[in-house]
Amino acid sequence: MAQKKVAVLGTGIIGAPVARNLRAEFAVSVWNRTPAKAAELATTDGVVAHATPAEAVAGADVVVTVLKDGPAVREVMEAAAPALAPGTVWIQLSTVGADAVGDLVDLAARHGLVLYDAPVQGTKQPAENGQLVVLAAGPAAGRDRAQAVFDAIGSRTVWVSQEPGAASRLKLALNSYVFALTHGAAESLALAEGLGVDPALVVDVIAGGPLDSPFFRAKAAAMLAGAYDPSFSVANAAKDARLVVAAAGAAGVPVDVTAAGLRRFERAAAAGHGAKDMAASRLAPDAAA
Ligand SMILES: NC(=O)c1ccc[n+]([C@@H]2O[C@H](COP(=O)([O-])OP(=O)(O)OC[C@H]3O[C@@H](n4cnc5c(N)ncnc54)[C@H](OP(=O)(O)O)[C@@H]3O)[C@@H](O)[C@H]2O)c1
Repeated sequence: MAQKKVAVLGTGIIGAPVARNLRAEFAVSVWNRTPAKAAELATTDGVVAHATPAEAVAGADVVVTVLKDGPAVREVMEAAAPALAPGTVWIQLSTVGADAVGDLVDLAARHGLVLYDAPVQGTKQPAENGQLVVLAAGPAAGRDRAQAVFDAIGSRTVWVSQEPGAASRLKLALNSYVFALTHGAAESLALAEGLGVDPALVVDVIAGGPLDSPFFRAKAAAMLAGAYDPSFSVANAAKDARLVVAAAGAAGVPVDVTAAGLRRFERAAAAGHGAKDMAASRLAPDAAA
């Protein structure tokens, strides 16, 4: 039987390994706004790279979007959708926030696509290892077509709802925790240094105790080494922190910590660290500077 075809639109930090991991089960085509990133995958990983979203999705059984934000997803899918057969499954992995999902639901309905709102928990390395946790919301009927893709890219799928949108809302709640951990580590290490003690001792004290976590270790190690290769960029973290603050405001939930953290990300980005990993919260200059 011919392999099913999956088209991946967006081959950034998460999209590239997602496309690679789909290769074992599916025929994979890709498109990326900056063509070099898609071309590199085609050269090294045997996927087929295309010049336009419409060319990439032609004949696809499933389309996966892994783009920066809601407006980018909408623009790219408006270009791709006319080339898709009604009934095609659209798996939307990008973090787009609570409001943008409504536009995507409308777009899917206009073109007869079956939308799964499916943001992911996990970063570059889990994506490379096929260990993402997929937060999924979409119709139960025909779910197996989406599940086959989730199984190829993730270690676990958490089905949140049959209505697209709930998974994106859960993703915002999770990001608020991720940002609190990141800024907490950054401030603790900076404070130790500022108070004249070795910041490595913060990690030493926490190691093996109830405050320890692989996430804390990874981010603290990056901060101590000044190694900020991006797993999740400051620019995208600021984008997501804005989505958290907006959704929380609409829901009447105070998110003081995320709002303060957003200002750290914005100061880090303004100081030229936007493309670095969000651990570069550690590099955010003094607000008064
Ligand atoms: N990295 C993580 O740890 C992580 C974890 C969970 C969720 N996410 C979410 O997953 C999504 C992708 O993240 P990432 O880390 O892979 O980001 P990334 O490396 O910055 O990739 C972003 C992708 O979006 C494309 N893009 C941006 N603006 C566009 C536009 N206006 N039109 C068309 N394409 C556009 C980029 O194309 P170019 O290559 O041309 O710039 C690239 O393919 C984001 O929504 C992010 O919040 C990321």
